[in-house]
Amino acid sequence: PYPVYEKLRETDPVFKVMFPHGEFGWIITRYEDAVEVLKDPRFSKDVAKRYGPENQSIFVNNMLFSDPPDHRRLRGLVQKAFTPKLVADMRSHIQEIADDLLNNIGSRDKMNLIDEYAFPLPIIVISEILGVPLEDQDKFRLWSNYIIDASNSDHAEMFEQHAREFTEYLTAWFAKVRENPGKDLISQLVIAEESGQQLTENELLGVVSLLIIAGHETTVNLIGNGVLALLEHPEQRDLLIQQPELIHNAIEEMLRYNGPVEFSTSRWALEDIEFRGQNIAKGELVIVALDSANRDDAKFKDADVFDITREKSSHLAFGTGIHLCLGAPLARLEGEIAIHTLLARFPEIQLQTDVTQLEWRPGMIVRGVKEIPVQLK
Ligand code: HEM
Repeated sequence: PYPVYEKLRETDPVFKVMFPHGEFGWIITRYEDAVEVLKDPRFSKDVAKRYGPENQSIFVNNMLFSDPPDHRRLRGLVQKAFTPKLVADMRSHIQEIADDLLNNIGSRDKMNLIDEYAFPLPIIVISEILGVPLEDQDKFRLWSNYIIDASNSDHAEMFEQHAREFTEYLTAWFAKVRENPGKDLISQLVIAEESGQQLTENELLGVVSLLIIAGHETTVNLIGNGVLALLEHPEQRDLLIQQPELIHNAIEEMLRYNGPVEFSTSRWALEDIEFRGQNIAKGELVIVALDSANRDDAKFKDADVFDITREKSSHLAFGTGIHLCLGAPLARLEGEIAIHTLLARFPEIQLQTDVTQLEWRPGMIVRGVKEIPVQLK
C-alpha cells in the first residue's frame, strides 16, 4: 500500500472515500494530521452513540469504542494488569515460552514462522494473564480473525455465527469463574462486575473479547512483519546479530516500518469540522492510516528506509492520545524476546520463498502475512 499512501500524502492528505459498507468517510495519511485527529475529542469513538446501541455487536462495549468518562472507567479496570513494572516481571516467563517453542523445532531446518512461533507466543501469554484455557486457542484464533476482518465481504456472512459462538463461550466461562474465582484478570473483572458498580455484564464481555482479540491479532504481526523486514534486509539482520543491544531500537523501527495495525479503528465527527481545507460533516467517519503516517518523509528522514539504528522515532504504531495502546509495554517485551531469541538460536535464518509469494491478510485493520516459511540453517 505504501506507494498509494505516498501519493495521497502529497496530493490528497484528507481523502474522501466510500467504505465497503457504503458509507462516506475520510482517510488521514500525514503524520501531523494523524496526531491531531487522534488527540481531538471532537472525533468520537463511541459507536453506540452514532449507530444506536441496538445496532452494535457486543465487541464494542469496551474502552476502545468509548469516550470519557466511560473510557477512563473501563481502561482503569484493566490498566493495573499491564503496567510497565508488572510486564517487566513477566520477562523470564516469556523467555521460557520462546525457548520452549524453538525447542519444539528439534533438529528440523525449516519452520513456519507464524504458526509455530509468532502466533503461539503472544497467545500463551495473554491466555495466562486472562486465565482462559490454552487448549481453546484455535477457537479464539478463528473467532478473532472473523471479527477483525469483518470488513472483508467473504467474512461478513460468517461473522454472525462466530460472534455468537464467541459470546456464548465467554458467558459460560464467566459463570465458571464466578463459582471459583482465581487470581487472573478475568476473575478480577468478574468480581468488579458482581459488585454492581464498576462494569456491566455487556462491558465484561466487551473488555475480555477486546483483550483476546488484541492478543491474537497484533503482536503476532509485530514478530512476523519484524522478522520479514530483517530477512529482506540481511545487512540489518547481521547488524542486529553483531549488536544485540540494538534490539529495543530495532523493535521500534519494525513497528514504524511495517506496523501491525494499518488503520486506526474509526472515529466520527461529533460536529461539522473544517480540517485542512476539507469539510468533515457531523457524523462522518474518519480513519487514520497509521502505517502511512509512519512513512511520512515530513516526519521521518528517508522514511522508506528500514534502519534499526534510527534515532528514537515516536511512530504511531500504537496510536496516540487517550486510546494509546494499553498493551504496548507487553507487546514490546514479547517482540523483543521473540526476535532476539530467534536470531540468537538461528543466526542464518532466511526466507524460504520469494517475498512476492507471501500472502497478506485480508482486511484493512491488521497488516500481516498469513504464513512465513523460513530456512533456519
Ligand atoms: C489500542 C496497536 C498489542 C490491547 C490500540 C490502538 C492501536 C494498537 C493502534 C489504538 C487504536 C485506535 O486508537 O483506534 C497495537 C499493536 C500491538 C498491540 C501494534 C502489537 C504490536 C496489544 C496487546 C494488547 C492490546 C498485546 C493486550 C494485552 C489494547 C487495548 C486498546 C488498544 C485494550 C484500547 C485502549 C483504549 O482504547 O484506551 N492498540 N496493539 N494491544 N490495544 Fe493494542
